[in-house]
Amino acid sequence: MEGELTRDILMGLPLPVLLIDSSYSVLALNDPARELFGAEAQGMNAVTLLRQAAVLAAMDAAIRDGQDGNARFIHSGISGEITYMFRAHPVASNGGAVLSFEDRSLFEDSELIRRDFIANISHELRTPLTSLRGFIETLRTTARDDPEARERFLQIMEDEAQRMSRMVADLLSLSRVEADERVRPRDEVDLAAVLRSAIATLEGKLKNANVKIAATGINDEALVPGDRDQLIQLFLNLIENAIKYGGSDRTIHVEVQKVPRDPTLRKAAWRVDVRDEGEGIDPIHLPRLTERFYRIDDDRSRQKGGTGLGLAIVKHIVNRHRGRLKITSEQGIGSCFSSIFPAE
Ligand SMILES: Nc1ncnc2c1ncn2[C@@H]1O[C@H](COP(=O)(O)OP(=O)(O)O)[C@@H](O)[C@H]1O
Ligand SMILES: [Mg+2]
Repeated sequence: MEGELTRDILMGLPLPVLLIDSSYSVLALNDPARELFGAEAQGMNAVTLLRQAAVLAAMDAAIRDGQDGNARFIHSGISGEITYMFRAHPVASNGGAVLSFEDRSLFEDSELIRRDFIANISHELRTPLTSLRGFIETLRTTARDDPEARERFLQIMEDEAQRMSRMVADLLSLSRVEADERVRPRDEVDLAAVLRSAIATLEGKLKNANVKIAATGINDEALVPGDRDQLIQLFLNLIENAIKYGGSDRTIHVEVQKVPRDPTLRKAAWRVDVRDEGEGIDPIHLPRLTERFYRIDDDRSRQKGGTGLGLAIVKHIVNRHRGRLKITSEQGIGSCFSSIFPAE
């Protein structure tokens, strides 16, 4: 049983695996198990080694009842706690068991993120829904015969409904961008043309806010491998933010420039700056801005019809293009969102 073949098979397994006999002594362990428990685990009693009730019960199931036992095993190492799926499988020939440990922490982390995300969405949708229901109630009762109030409430209701539609649209586009994040875009796209088109689309909003765009370098070709629609969406999101948070009657500076060698991408790149003259962003917020639903000022974002998803979408689009997003801001002077794309 402790022959060469067994040992070779153990060593070929990527998971930590221990082989124990009917008195729970560790007969053999592979390298991943040695990394987990140390070389001194060889010959030790598995009960002393593992010492977690559920795990011991699972081992008993294998050794006493000849049945597979499963349990969660939590290992505290230098880099924190790791949760393993522990399995004890009976070995008939020696009355012992094979013990294996499958790292579940990555899976459990993404489960957690998924649950958080769903909780966030529910919360985000509940707010406008509550307000809509409140206004419906008011329209039925107190505002029933007040045409002026009715008009005002209907306007708010329309804004809220529109914000909900935008949220659903943003969620869909976020999931679409995430879905093909691993697929490298292949088309050759001219960033300058993309910017001209994004600016043209926003003409109405720019006019309403009395904001001007000062653009540099958007008349010469700036070719990158890209996805045209996604790039347009990226710049729409950035410029819309600059309009919303940069303040009325100001200027937004859009600049395209070639970078001979980007230090992080380690290659030639095109860099597009969208810079506003707003009040700027406190540095403590910068690392979290691209998180879904992260807003510096909830009320202000909601008032402006924001969803808190714009920059998360931007980040994913930049990632898909193997580029990087750099955000700098000086309080009282303005913020600059730079999207940097590999030139080939
Ligand atoms: N140009 C900017 N200046 C100041 N704050 C900004 C700017 N762009 C984004 N932000 C902040 O980042 C947050 C997240 O932006 P975003 O994901 O686009 O969501 P939204 O615009 O829907 O609120 C905004 O709520 C705002 O607080
Ligand atoms: Mg936005």
